[in-house]
Amino acid sequence: MNITLKVNGIEHAIDTAPASTLLAALRGLGYHGVKFGDEGGLSGSDTVLLNGKPVNAGALLAAQAEGHDIATIEALGEHPEQGWKITDGLHPLQKAFVETGAIQCGYCTPAQILAAKALLEKNPNPSEAEVREAISGVLCRCTGYLKPVQAVLKAAAEIRGDTPLDWNSINWDFGTPKDDSPQSDAPASNLTGVQVRPKVVVTPESQTWQTVGKPEIKVDAVKLVQGKPAFTADFEKRGLLHAKVLHSPHAHALIKNIDASKALALEGVAAVLTWKDLPRVVYSTAGQSDPIPGPLDAFSLDKKVRFVGDRVAFVAAETEELAEKALSLIEVEYEVLTPILDSRQAMGSPIRIHDEPEYVNFADSNPEKNLAAHIRIDIGDVEKGFAEADEIFEAEYEVPKVQQAHIEPHVCVTYWDEDDRLVIRTSTQVPFHVRRMMAPVLGLPVKRIRVIKPRIGGGFGGKQEVLMEDVAAHLTIATKRPVIYEYTREEEFIAARSRHPMRVRMKTGVKKDGTITANSMYALSDTGAYGCHALTVTGNTGHKAMALYVGDGEYRKAPNIRFYADVVYTNTPPAGAFRGYGVPQGYWPLDRHMEKISRAMGFDPIDFRLKNAIHSGEYHPFSTAWNEGREPRPEIIHTVGLEQCVAQGRAAINWDDKFGNEEWRAGRWTEDGRPSTVRRPSSIRKGIGVAMVMQGTAIPYLDMGGASIKMNDDGSFNLLVGATDLGTGSDTVLAQMAAEVLGVPVEDMICYSSDTDFTPFDKGAYASSTTYISGTAAVNAAKIVAERVRVRAAMMLKLDKHEDIKLENRQAIAPDGRSVSMAEIALDSLHKNYQEQIMGVASYVSPVSPPPFAAQFAEVTVDSETGQVTVDRLVMAVDSGVIVNPLTASGQIEGGMTQALGYAVCEEMRYDDKGNAIERDFDRYHLFRANEMPELETIFVETFEPSHPFGVKAVAEIPMDGVAPAVGNAILDAIGANVDDNPVTPEKVWKALKSLSTGIK
Ligand code: FES
Repeated sequence: MNITLKVNGIEHAIDTAPASTLLAALRGLGYHGVKFGDEGGLSGSDTVLLNGKPVNAGALLAAQAEGHDIATIEALGEHPEQGWKITDGLHPLQKAFVETGAIQCGYCTPAQILAAKALLEKNPNPSEAEVREAISGVLCRCTGYLKPVQAVLKAAAEIRGDTPLDWNSINWDFGTPKDDSPQSDAPASNLTGVQVRPKVVVTPESQTWQTVGKPEIKVDAVKLVQGKPAFTADFEKRGLLHAKVLHSPHAHALIKNIDASKALALEGVAAVLTWKDLPRVVYSTAGQSDPIPGPLDAFSLDKKVRFVGDRVAFVAAETEELAEKALSLIEVEYEVLTPILDSRQAMGSPIRIHDEPEYVNFADSNPEKNLAAHIRIDIGDVEKGFAEADEIFEAEYEVPKVQQAHIEPHVCVTYWDEDDRLVIRTSTQVPFHVRRMMAPVLGLPVKRIRVIKPRIGGGFGGKQEVLMEDVAAHLTIATKRPVIYEYTREEEFIAARSRHPMRVRMKTGVKKDGTITANSMYALSDTGAYGCHALTVTGNTGHKAMALYVGDGEYRKAPNIRFYADVVYTNTPPAGAFRGYGVPQGYWPLDRHMEKISRAMGFDPIDFRLKNAIHSGEYHPFSTAWNEGREPRPEIIHTVGLEQCVAQGRAAINWDDKFGNEEWRAGRWTEDGRPSTVRRPSSIRKGIGVAMVMQGTAIPYLDMGGASIKMNDDGSFNLLVGATDLGTGSDTVLAQMAAEVLGVPVEDMICYSSDTDFTPFDKGAYASSTTYISGTAAVNAAKIVAERVRVRAAMMLKLDKHEDIKLENRQAIAPDGRSVSMAEIALDSLHKNYQEQIMGVASYVSPVSPPPFAAQFAEVTVDSETGQVTVDRLVMAVDSGVIVNPLTASGQIEGGMTQALGYAVCEEMRYDDKGNAIERDFDRYHLFRANEMPELETIFVETFEPSHPFGVKAVAEIPMDGVAPAVGNAILDAIGANVDDNPVTPEKVWKALKSLSTGIK
């Protein structure tokens, strides 16, 4: 049908199918700022304005929008078609989002801005609650909403013409020494009711730097705030086919017959592939360095299906609708097999999930026992430690399967280029692993594959999987045409990866004085149908959680720690990498156990943990026992800021006044210490909890990052990195570090990541390694360039020595004060004298993995009548070494705490007795929205990690670890009842309360 759409004031006459959505029409017209909407508007990233009101373009037919004014993000600020010319600049909302650090991956940003614009046009002076309500229809998995809310309030003030706020002095005051006393010196926010900037207790080393340590604006922020076509699917290619996958309806079955003839006969269908059409190449989908530390147990297509959602056939067709129709025409005869759905039944079961002859074992995997990995780590003598204890505490805990839930789904476009090389444009965390791993699967040499990673709309480990690139690639090979494959939200739930659920048994020996004499954890981990990341995720559960508590006194020198795990196959969707990588599964049982022990023995919970926690200068107890894929080597932990984190965090949350204070718990006491005049119902109680955690920084002796830097004619530099910015800001922090070495502002570093044809190798974004590993590579490349710049400057200034030349403010400055500019050096070296391209390439592998540490605090309100838990406040004090960019780093902490909050109280993937997923969208699977958030506060306690040139450790994963146990501990504090399985739902709390009153569990 022919319709006319008026978009941003421009009329477009289009021919569209009657069922076509407004989203499809807008994207077809090139308005790429409106994003994925295959979910009835549940994520909200498809928000546009219709006559000034926010609507979901994916939930509206194109025809319904005819005759209305449609506004997309492209209507705001500078327009792409206006090219380089500076016009009116950014809209105040766009500017505020850029300046406040409200953008991480940026996928939800256009929708948030449009929703905010609609609010401000109605209400120019909104309250924080009104802003939260207005943007609550747009899910953000990255930010925790704090900075977007600040951005909207800041823009509102600017639009109203209020006295401009000095944003830098109010919110960001880094680079000057901070008082490190526990009493927070941060001024109360005058913009929102919550803390608006992290406190940073800086190290002396970081106080002289020009860009490192500063809240630099993200290098990709402007294009993201404008909704420019930066993501994988924002790509137009003539003749593009659409791929769909037929998924198994059975949890365990053999494909006896499959007939695709009717589907192939459908006009517009270009290819249908079944297991009969593809060579059987066994591989692992885990995006890890070679050799992959896990079994090879997957095929692109197999004649056996192992979970509801497993692949049965691939289709490519001219439209998505035709591809869907073709799926329904494929005839499949299954022989249904009995599934294993409970991890406890896997090892002893006669049912074998993997009986294919091509299966390749890794380490102790054993498909005959449905065992993907088997871990036995003994440090010291645990039995002797138990024998020396005065008390032994044993308990069992359970942690759930949860979804990464990045708002941009998995998406990939493949095509043959003009040299007959296969281009894979994909939303991946691991472009170089994609290229290496796909080569044998596709039957192509590595050199005939090019992988391009555009901007990524969040990954959180879900895109550390080489999950679906083969689907589009096989179809491009079969059809010779470009193919796009984009997961639906339902596919994300039934066919992508998730966090390993575990059943965990703890046993701990403690002396009367509170010394831990031995600590043991056994984890039964469920990898689902395939063993991707099975060994390494579960190994980290022990490695990074059980290492924190070594005991005190003599035990500190020779701790007794045991970590055993069995990682079993079941007929459920495979687990994989998820931010935190096994460690949140360890800290729920470990820290809950610590809390119970301290309460049972009458110790202060903070003192008990600190008494037994590892100190700087001590060996990482697991460093001689286990490593991810390489031989373990002894490693000393040099920086532990845990005690300072505790001091800062307990002051910020006012722990000393609240913990153990029955008046406060019962609501007879206000925040400022006065008797409360408002009586809460007696069923409402407050509680406060703490958890202490450590993570790791990169994988020693294994993962490598590379960087190259070249100088341009104007003295700017191209920084090319294989590292993968998922929205974390890694391009920005790498540019900051290189800029610091070269003495130029960040705007002179043009950072590009990543393309396997052009950027150096990098293992990709995982294991909290980018700032540390890829950052060191960038610093080393910058040092090579800086050396050549100094040599050239010495030649131009006719100096005998170049070593004393300083690089700063875009100048090379001699000790006598004379200088040449970077631009002069560049022109001289490229065009005039002894011509050369100044450039440097470097790579880095770390021999150590220095752990970051954190103290996590939570304050909750619990209704003991209903079991309803409201998390009121989360405070996290983190030692992540030196903070390169407090703007991006605090965003990481806020977003991580928010994801972890879902893990604590509401997120869970469940299955019925046939293995069908119960949660398949963002309706049943609840993510926190802007108007449901607790107050968030981040405090950075810097230490200077000596193994990194700028003293950094990791920040990305540690916020996942402590929220759930801190919330569990706070609930215990409030009502005296324990819930040992997270998420802590009202039903579980209510049952725990009932068991208290009845004594029955
Ligand atoms: S910044 Fe909101 S989803 Fe990534």
